[in-house]
Amino acid sequence: MNSPRIEVMADGGLFHIQGSSSSLTIANYHGLPLRLWWGSRFTPSAEALAEIRSDPPPYSVCDDPDDTSWSSARLHLDYAPPLAGDRKAPAFIATSTKASIISPRISGWRTYEGRPTLAGLPFARAEASEVRTLELTLSDPEAGLELALSYTVFEDSDIIAHNVTYRNKGDSIIRLSRASSFAFDFAPRHSMELVDLEGTWARERMARRSALTPGKKLIGSNLGVSSHRFSPVCALLPATTTEASGEAWGASLEWSGDWQFSFELDEFDCLRWSGGPGAEGFSWELGPGDTFICPEALLGWSEGGLSGLSDQFHEFLSRRITPPRWRGKARPILVNTWEASYFDFDAQGLDDIARQAARLGAELFVLDDGWFSRRNDATSSLGDWWPNEAKLGGSLEDLARRVDGLGLGLGIWIEPEMVSPNSDLFRAHPDWCLVAPGAPRHRGREQLVLDLGRPEVREEIKGRVRALLSSARFAYVKWDFNRPLGLPGSTLLPPERQGEASYRFTLGAYDLFKSITSTFPDILFEGCAGGGGRMDYGTLSYFPQYWASDDTDAVARWAIQGGAGLFFPPCVIGSHVSAVPNHQTGRSLGMMPRLAAALGGILGFELDLALLEAADFALAAEACNWYKDWRSLLQFGRRVRLPTAAEGDRSGRSPFADDAAWMSVDEASGRAVVVWSRLRATANPGSAFLRLRCLEKEATYMISIPPFVRGPGSSTLARKSGAGTRSLSGAELMRRGLEILPGTGDATAIVFELQRV
Ligand code: DGJ
Repeated sequence: MNSPRIEVMADGGLFHIQGSSSSLTIANYHGLPLRLWWGSRFTPSAEALAEIRSDPPPYSVCDDPDDTSWSSARLHLDYAPPLAGDRKAPAFIATSTKASIISPRISGWRTYEGRPTLAGLPFARAEASEVRTLELTLSDPEAGLELALSYTVFEDSDIIAHNVTYRNKGDSIIRLSRASSFAFDFAPRHSMELVDLEGTWARERMARRSALTPGKKLIGSNLGVSSHRFSPVCALLPATTTEASGEAWGASLEWSGDWQFSFELDEFDCLRWSGGPGAEGFSWELGPGDTFICPEALLGWSEGGLSGLSDQFHEFLSRRITPPRWRGKARPILVNTWEASYFDFDAQGLDDIARQAARLGAELFVLDDGWFSRRNDATSSLGDWWPNEAKLGGSLEDLARRVDGLGLGLGIWIEPEMVSPNSDLFRAHPDWCLVAPGAPRHRGREQLVLDLGRPEVREEIKGRVRALLSSARFAYVKWDFNRPLGLPGSTLLPPERQGEASYRFTLGAYDLFKSITSTFPDILFEGCAGGGGRMDYGTLSYFPQYWASDDTDAVARWAIQGGAGLFFPPCVIGSHVSAVPNHQTGRSLGMMPRLAAALGGILGFELDLALLEAADFALAAEACNWYKDWRSLLQFGRRVRLPTAAEGDRSGRSPFADDAAWMSVDEASGRAVVVWSRLRATANPGSAFLRLRCLEKEATYMISIPPFVRGPGSSTLARKSGAGTRSLSGAELMRRGLEILPGTGDATAIVFELQRV
């Protein structure tokens, strides 16, 4: 157990925050917080303060009108206030009726056991004894603004939770137009690269690595949700860092609304990295006595390459973000009706799917969209959360009973934050949607967003959802969100405060999530927003799993889940086998590659099982059977990306350019599962050698191929040993690797089981 420590040196001139193997040091320099170091652990000396370089460079401005010996132009600032000398963007912008520039300085500090609690926002869970916090107070007494910057360090982790709270302690109104959750400078080290996740609907979380060049780069979302376009997570690394070695820094915002990350590289090779809520147009008014709390940022460091960083975030998310009740709890295999029948089903059809699901060995039957009010397409009924009993052939409790009789739990789809213009809810409350007074109501997917910033709207929706979820025994809920906010506004706010509407909406959504999930703690909630449009550490604080994408094509899923895997562990990624030709890409693949892709997350099915050929059905049923034995490893074991020949191949001519592979390892039991796939077939292929990782060099591993694995992908193991079992040392598996004989056909796949003997 590595206990967190914070050392205060030089009478509060220097602070040393110690993670399990990292150090973050902050200096107090003329009242400005400086980030002296964040990286591998060493004890700083107070002498470092004398080394700070602050002489004004040519063509610069000094910050102290009475002292021209120094300037902030070359300082490495932490949460930089607006300054005369600093040339980069400040961490926040605040104005008041008294001051057009508000620039506070450090006025106090404290360290304590425990962490701040954030009213109305999600934050990392910890017992007080597991964490220590450094809090710096920055004040501008004239303007009356006080900021609390806090750094919380956790036992056994190199992740730091960064928090910022603004307080108006004066008597005038203060307006915030930017309020970052974190912002700090990297002293020049190496040329830095950014790894981020970009995309769009059905193409979420495409990992991209790019060099940062002088100037400013921005990523974020102004869609009112964290979005499909970019995810509020990213990594920064020197160009020399690889998958398994070198330093890497990462950040994740626990926030599901508008956000921004900014990377600004200056003329002295200093990189300012900031991130926080809000997009253009954000504003927040702080009246006297008011407080504004920024969403929490999680900042991580590793010297184990990108893998090391992923391990840190996976562990942290599972241990401290997702609801504790679901920690390590096996996630059921579900069958969802969406791609099986969309809106077009009846009681007979549902019963047929449920019967097939039971035969397959699934554990949950999930009734997707189309079960309520007059909802037979996407044009109506959102908000009217009562069952269409004629379509369902009875009540939801009747359905739950029938499904239970088959040995399955019942799951249901809802989208509580929305309203259809064609609904009883809208007809009763046309003013409840998220638009400014008098503004047009822009529709997306024929629906409007509810103004969850308004307490009476939230209370009504809570009541309706509670009534629904109490009406039958539900084991699972899929909570959807199918359009961005557009141009949000609120009838609750005056014209000059409309910039708060989007932020207030997300706070309202969190209140709704919290109220419903705590009323029904035994229901497993899966988040969804047209696929992965709001998959972030904020929603995952309430919903333990997430539907990663509406693209269920196996080849596409390798990329989507691979990107998500940088920051999200497999236990939060919903992943289903669907029909062929695939409904999103038109691609047709065999059952084996579709199963192999779905094993990358929480296994489920989303197709009319009755239409499967008998051989495919049998294969899927065998896989379900096998999965139940191995799922605790697959869902909660350490997930390791395996470098295939494609990595490091800059020629683009490698015959292995389209291979992808991962393994799940449990170091304690010595068990592992390896999954490899060749996404695009190569004619006349040579062997592929898959080098495993994270095994014990000296140990011997029994390797076998699970009984359900068949199809063109093969291995020398299966071919030469007949029985498909062989023992190899960890060293051999990690150095020489497993030899694979790719077959023909796209996405041929093979799965191996390993057991240390
Ligand atoms: C979008 C989701 O991502 C789909 O899986 C499905 O639930 C539809 N919405 C239903 O409208």
